[in-house]
Amino acid sequence: MVKHSPASLNGKTLLITGAGGDIGLACARALGQLGARLALLDIDAEKLDSAQAELAEQSITCMTTQCNITDAAAVSRSLDAVERELGPIHGLFNNVGYQGEFVATHHYSLVDFQRVIDINVTGAFIVLSAVTARMVQQGGGTVVNTVSMAALGGPPNMLAYATSKAALLGMTKTAATDLAPHNIRVNAISPAYMGPGFMWTRQVELQAAAGSQYFDADPAVVEQQMIQSIPMRRYGNIDEIPGTVAFLLSDQSSYITGVNIPISGGIG
Ligand SMILES: NC(=O)c1ccc[n+]([C@@H]2O[C@H](COP(=O)([O-])OP(=O)(O)OC[C@H]3O[C@@H](n4cnc5c(N)ncnc54)[C@H](O)[C@@H]3O)[C@@H](O)[C@H]2O)c1
Repeated sequence: MVKHSPASLNGKTLLITGAGGDIGLACARALGQLGARLALLDIDAEKLDSAQAELAEQSITCMTTQCNITDAAAVSRSLDAVERELGPIHGLFNNVGYQGEFVATHHYSLVDFQRVIDINVTGAFIVLSAVTARMVQQGGGTVVNTVSMAALGGPPNMLAYATSKAALLGMTKTAATDLAPHNIRVNAISPAYMGPGFMWTRQVELQAAAGSQYFDADPAVVEQQMIQSIPMRRYGNIDEIPGTVAFLLSDQSSYITGVNIPISGGIG
């Protein structure tokens, strides 16, 4: 029998990747407040330390593990450490992402293309497959992948990023099909233009510098151009993301899998 109460994550151990970044940390705060025990994973040790210090002040149970998600052996060691300290992982927020450079398709460098695919696709796969292999043994779990509206909207100058996020959307759907018999749900969120934060600022500045016909050369104008492409005429606040992630990781979404939830209507 499904219980209808606000999304509770009491008793759940959740792994958040990219936890030192803007979206990862905002979600860590919210998921911790809903009762989850958190394992924070990031490549950046300083960001992890500062996230852990902030969450400790809020009495949120959390541990950190520094890890490059493109290194399968390192991911496996991190998962071992999480299980030792917090027990089995019930939910994964597979959230690391790198935007790549901002240049038109015919100038896009192979080196950067491969870097974006390595982090956003191969890295996401490594974490997804390693965590769900353990969830299969445990008898179930939930996963939320951070895709992007860039997967669907054809944003200019973001060839590798758009390609990588489209791949992650495909990965979400096939993983959902493969893992449903094992009681594992796999869904995605697709933020569009979200801010304030590192990615918003970087995107505005790099689109301005890219010299395309689609955006002005002045970042202040680019900001307005992007906002005018959003139906709600404002960028989404990072704090408007965690509620959807919590819902998808909670038992409230117990019959939802293979779904991608767009957050705000922009394309980037
Ligand atoms: N902010 C936005 O506007 C926006 C919009 C759509 C989608 N997204 C997606 O949301 C996710 C989070 O974005 P964000 O805005 O918080 O970005 P962010 O840059 O603030 O955070 C990303 C985090 O990932 C970490 N990271 C990068 N490479 C790593 C690796 N190889 N191994 C482990 N950690 C690594 C970084 O250290 C950083 O802490 C990404 O997948 C991004 O593509 C963001």
